[in-house]
Amino acid sequence: MGKNVLILGSGGREHALAWKLSTSASVDTVYVAPGNGGTENIAYNVSLPLTNFKKLTDFVKKNGIDLSVVGPDNLLARGVVDHFMKEGHAIFGPTKKASEIEWSKAWAKKMMARLRIPTARFFATHTYKNACAYLATREMPLVIKASGLALGKGVYVCKSQEEAHDALEKLMVDRIHKEAGACVVIEDFISGKELSVHALCDGRSSGLFPFSRDYKRLRNNDAGPNTGGMGSYAPVPWISFRIIDTILRDVVHRMVDELHDHGDPFVGCLYPGVMLYDDTPYVLEYNARFGDPETQSYMPLLENDLFALLTACVEGTLSLHKLKWSDAAAVTVVLASQGYPYEYLLGHTIHGLEDLEKEEGIFVWHAGTTLKKTKGYETSGGRVLSVTAVANTYKAAHEKCYEAIQRISFEGMCYRSDIGQEIIS
Ligand code: GLY
Repeated sequence: MGKNVLILGSGGREHALAWKLSTSASVDTVYVAPGNGGTENIAYNVSLPLTNFKKLTDFVKKNGIDLSVVGPDNLLARGVVDHFMKEGHAIFGPTKKASEIEWSKAWAKKMMARLRIPTARFFATHTYKNACAYLATREMPLVIKASGLALGKGVYVCKSQEEAHDALEKLMVDRIHKEAGACVVIEDFISGKELSVHALCDGRSSGLFPFSRDYKRLRNNDAGPNTGGMGSYAPVPWISFRIIDTILRDVVHRMVDELHDHGDPFVGCLYPGVMLYDDTPYVLEYNARFGDPETQSYMPLLENDLFALLTACVEGTLSLHKLKWSDAAAVTVVLASQGYPYEYLLGHTIHGLEDLEKEEGIFVWHAGTTLKKTKGYETSGGRVLSVTAVANTYKAAHEKCYEAIQRISFEGMCYRSDIGQEIIS
C-alpha cells in the first residue's frame, strides 16, 4: 500500500520537499500543513495550527500518515518531534534537546569549543553589562548574534564599537528579536568563502550532500541586511576532496558522535554553515534542518527516493543507502516583496507562472503565495517565490534561471542579480 506523508511548514523548502516526496514510487499522498499556493498543486494543503501538537498527531492518526517531516527550526525548538515520538508516530527531525545545537547558539559554541571543532573565538553572555565590557577588550570587526532563533535576522557584523553597541542594544535592551536576544554570542569576524553543508543523519551515521552556497544578504555583492536567504547554488565546484573529508570528520561526525554518546542522537538534517579560511573550515553555526533556499537547489539534483532516505534516518538504517546526485548544476534565485526583510505589502497579483510550469529544468517553488479562485496567485509573504534552474553547466543554469525570472512579475518584485556569478565569471 502507498505511504502517506505530512510535511510541516509553508516555505519554498517545503514545496521542494513535497515535490520530491511526491515523485517517490512508494508515496501515495503528500499533505502539507499549512503549505502554500504552490504545494496545493502537488499535495493536499491542510490548515492545522502548527503550534498545537495534539491537533497534528490527531491528523496523523486519522489520515494514516506513515512519516512526518519538519521544515522550520521553531517547531523543533518547541519539541514537535518529542511529541510525535511519545505518541508513536514516525517523524523526520531532531528532538528538542538534539536541536539545541540550532536554537541556542551559545550552547553550540560551547560544544564546539569542547569538541575542538574549529570556530571563531567567542564570548556568550546573558548580561548587557558583561557584553559591553567584553566589547571594550576586542578589535573590530566583530559579529554579534542573538543566541536564540530570529528567522535568520539576528546576526550583526559590526565594523566599529558604535555599531557593536548599537547591535547589543537592539538585541538585549530593546529585545527586537524578543527572547532570542536574551543571550548573545559575540565572536571574531572570519572572512573567507562560505559553504552550506547538509548531512542526513540517523543518529549514528550520516549521508553528506554535495556542498552548496547560499546568499544571506538582501542585495548584490552581499550588501544590505541579513535575510532568510536570497539564493543558492549546488554543488560547490571549488572544493577539494581534502576539505570535504575534513568537514565530514571534524564538523559532521564529531558532532553527531558526541550527540549520540550523550544520549541525544541527532536524527534529521544537520546543516552546518561553514567559512573556509586558509583552507580550514570554521563553523559559523549549526542548523538542525534543511536550508532554505539550499533545499530548492538540492531536490532536483537528488537521484534517490527521498521517502526511502528519510525513513532510513528515522529507522536508523541510513548506512544501507548511498546518496546519488545528478552531475548537473542548480541555481536558485529568491523573488521577494519590496521591503523584505522588514515591512512589505501583500496581495499583489503574480503574473507569468503558467507559462513556466512545463518548462524543462525550471522549478518555481512557492513560499509567500496564495491561490485566489478568480485572480490566480497573489503575494502573501516576504519571500514569495524561488526559481531553480538545472542545466549541465553553471553558466547554462545561471542564464536559464534569470531568463525564467524575466517572465515572472508582481508589483515590487525584488531579487539579487548576482546569484552564482562567482562560479561563472
Ligand atoms: N539558508 C539559510 C537558512 O536556511 O537558514
